[in-house]
Amino acid sequence: MKKVNVLFVCLGNICRSPTAHGVFQHKVAEARLGDSILVDSAGTGAWHIGNAPDERAIAAASARGYELGALRARQTRAEDFDDFDYILAMDRQNLSDLQQSRPAGYGGQLDLFLNFGRHPDFAEVPDPYYGAVQGFELVLDLVEGAAEGLLADIRHKYSL
Ligand code: 4NP
Repeated sequence: MKKVNVLFVCLGNICRSPTAHGVFQHKVAEARLGDSILVDSAGTGAWHIGNAPDERAIAAASARGYELGALRARQTRAEDFDDFDYILAMDRQNLSDLQQSRPAGYGGQLDLFLNFGRHPDFAEVPDPYYGAVQGFELVLDLVEGAAEGLLADIRHKYSL
């Protein structure tokens, strides 16, 4: 069976989307759905291509049991719309950038990732790059919540 392919997108692909990538991958493995769901992440910007995630993101995730250290940043590309069933943006600017390059026939779900969460105060994952370490904890809180909702959505839609 074809896998369900999920792509998380932020600006740099070194803070928010690798966190979402690592957290969601962990939840997929816990649910023993690794053979059915493929997870990836990318950035709309090109500055950090080939780089590991930000050390603050790696440390904050590691403290909650998620390993991000092996991930490497890449930029979004046109073929992502051929390859991914879900393309999930961390903020509205990322979503807007993706919508610019969305082909008319894209049949997947291009959306804000936090639409799968139920947080009353946050529709977007705030960019933690220029802020304090607490920003990385907030990223994890928001991502963990939305990851649960996303997994439930996929399980329901694909009968997994
Ligand atoms: P991210 O954070 O989009 O969550 O990976 C950022 C990382 C780097 C930059 C901006 C945001 N930057 O401008 O280099």
